[in-house]
Amino acid sequence: MTLAGVISFSIVFYMFPPSRNCPPQFVIHEQQSESSSDKSNNSVSNAAEDKPILLLWVWPENYRFEFSDCKKFYNIDNCKLTDDRSLYTNSDAVMVYHRGISWDLSNLPPSPRPPFQKWIWLHLESPTNTKKIPGLENLFNLTLSYRQDADIAVRMRLKTRKKPAEDFVVPKKDKLVCWIVSNNDPSTGVSARNKYYQELSKHIKVTLFGRAYSWFLSYDEYYPTLSSCKFYLSFENSIHKDYITEKINGPLAAGTVPVVLGPPRKNYENFVPGDAFIHVEDFQDPKSLAEYLHLLDRDDVAYRRYFNWRKHLTPTPHLILQTQEFVLAICTACDYIARHRDYKEAHDIYDWYFN
Ligand SMILES: *[C@@H]1O[C@H](CO)[C@@H](O)[C@H](O)[C@H]1NC(C)=O
Ligand SMILES: *[C@@H]1O[C@H](CO)[C@@H](O)[C@H](O)[C@H]1NC(C)=O
Repeated sequence: MTLAGVISFSIVFYMFPPSRNCPPQFVIHEQQSESSSDKSNNSVSNAAEDKPILLLWVWPENYRFEFSDCKKFYNIDNCKLTDDRSLYTNSDAVMVYHRGISWDLSNLPPSPRPPFQKWIWLHLESPTNTKKIPGLENLFNLTLSYRQDADIAVRMRLKTRKKPAEDFVVPKKDKLVCWIVSNNDPSTGVSARNKYYQELSKHIKVTLFGRAYSWFLSYDEYYPTLSSCKFYLSFENSIHKDYITEKINGPLAAGTVPVVLGPPRKNYENFVPGDAFIHVEDFQDPKSLAEYLHLLDRDDVAYRRYFNWRKHLTPTPHLILQTQEFVLAICTACDYIARHRDYKEAHDIYDWYFN
């Protein structure tokens, strides 16, 4: 966790070094009297007043965090995030967490809605794991989801770099294939991946971790454990377009080759270069996949080719504490609201979401 924090912080710092000009400007403006102020274009304090207010109506799953984390982890600081409902009538946007909405809609924000205000539908689960609460179809202005065609699309992305990185050193490995499984509830759609795993594990040794098994990993063991495996099973719980989660980001960030099960390879390649991962659909069956993994285990040169992308792309470790599950989504919404003032209605969200 600390390592992840340090890495992501240093990436943010590297990309956005603090400007030397800013502090003096701020000081100069502070010294001006209110009346002599000539609305300077680059005033920090004017900019602060202009920041749109984003009201988080309920904390998703009650996982609270400091709003300053948006700046700390993602350098996002262009809106005023709040959970103070007394700011409702003045809020530019209100974010409503789908799973927090009661079936009778009684806990939605009040009407009438201020005419300038936009409501954001916040939902990160796949359709398989989504309950259709009736009455939400035409209430919102913006959708926020893992889907690329959502108004606000949320995901960890690889960053391009202009100056090639020097040779990436593959971390030391003492395990072949690993898999962390925290959810094994059949109702969440996991049967496809379980079936594949059952068959695969007959042909290759898979080391299991996670809540669903006895070997529970603590948070600070997550990245080091991933690093120590040659391959990691990035198996999504349900299969939907764009539903490509932190399950692939983890191994990419840790220096491990992801073996993915999810939407088709082409969909993955919208976000991750094709030579950075292995897709189960590249193989006729789990047995042929196992044979290929054994082959790569013996052929270090071929194995190391899976890290060539590291020269021009940089992964970012995602936040792994449970209470941090929604940090990226909420910060992304903040940034979006600050950059987009357009009028927008989101109609028939279920039509869009389920079809
Ligand atoms: C603000 O910007 C405009 C146009 O860019 C410029 O003409 C004006 O002098 C600037 N005002 C201040 C106070 O810097
Ligand atoms: C937001 O959407 C609602 C419902 O469609 C609509 O009535 C309202 O005018 C929209 N507001 C803005 C600011 O886009």
